[in-house]
Amino acid sequence: MQDPLQYEGTHAVVTGCASGMGAATAAILTELGATVTGLDVQDHADGVDRFVQVDLKDKASIDAAVGSIEGPVDSVFSVAGLPGPPFSDLDTVMVNFVGPRHLIESLVPQMPPGAAAVCVASNAGLGWQQDLDWLLPVVSEGGFDEGRAWCEANAERIATGYVPSKKLLNAWVAWRAVTLLDAGIRLNCQNPGPTETAMMPAFEALAGKEMIDAFVGPSKRRSTAEEQAWPLVFLNSRRSSYIAGEALHTDAGFLGAATTGQIQSAL
Ligand SMILES: NC(=O)c1ccc[n+]([C@@H]2O[C@H](COP(=O)([O-])OP(=O)(O)OC[C@H]3O[C@@H](n4cnc5c(N)ncnc54)[C@H](O)[C@@H]3O)[C@@H](O)[C@H]2O)c1
Repeated sequence: MQDPLQYEGTHAVVTGCASGMGAATAAILTELGATVTGLDVQDHADGVDRFVQVDLKDKASIDAAVGSIEGPVDSVFSVAGLPGPPFSDLDTVMVNFVGPRHLIESLVPQMPPGAAAVCVASNAGLGWQQDLDWLLPVVSEGGFDEGRAWCEANAERIATGYVPSKKLLNAWVAWRAVTLLDAGIRLNCQNPGPTETAMMPAFEALAGKEMIDAFVGPSKRRSTAEEQAWPLVFLNSRRSSYIAGEALHTDAGFLGAATTGQIQSAL
């Protein structure tokens, strides 16, 4: 079978293209014949057809980036993120949720029917379904400015930054995927387990190596960036045309083991 994932001749936008999962995703897409526009706050033009610098916590920067991207955009990979400390809670939620939401919403007019977007959340956001009472009002109303104002007014809700940001992202994807389907656009979420990237030292410094290793579950190892990139590519492929509003857990069995009581977890 030729071109099984059908990226040949398509245009993909990848955030976080300078490192880790984003860089791995851009490399795979290039190999599959897509034209890749890479976005990152770090100046890094390697491995993409066109690089656009963007700061996802800055609305004007996102608007300028979107304005410079020529459509159509067939797939969006929202991969960039911050780990929490040493970054502030506010910056973490802005970069992990408020900015990506604004970016994707701003690209929607350039996305034809059949296009798709995927957001990288995290296993750290597990249990978001139990928090819908406070998550839903935030994700279903307003845009960038309202999102920032809510964060500033709700310091306790966004405490630690990373966990609430990934819960917000999961909830927004589940909510927004429904109406995007009217335009023929699919939106999904991926929740990776611990992965060896440049972000890992920050997680280890914050939570300790033992806690990180407790999240690797039955696979007993961390994933590579490529092992996270391939499912992202799969989710945005036209071959996944019946997958929308999904929260895919790329954690090598952690969620199943925790849900069925085969490993200890805080779930
Ligand atoms: N590494 C893990 O264990 C792990 C586990 C679960 C989820 N994740 C998530 O995976 C995604 C990719 O992270 P990674 O592990 O590849 O880490 P990484 O640090 O290698 O890559 C993150 C990228 O985001 C970019 N970025 C940071 N701030 C930005 C900003 N303000 N604007 C634009 N770009 C910005 C960085 O420059 C970097 O290139 C993140 O959303 C992260 O939260 C990581």
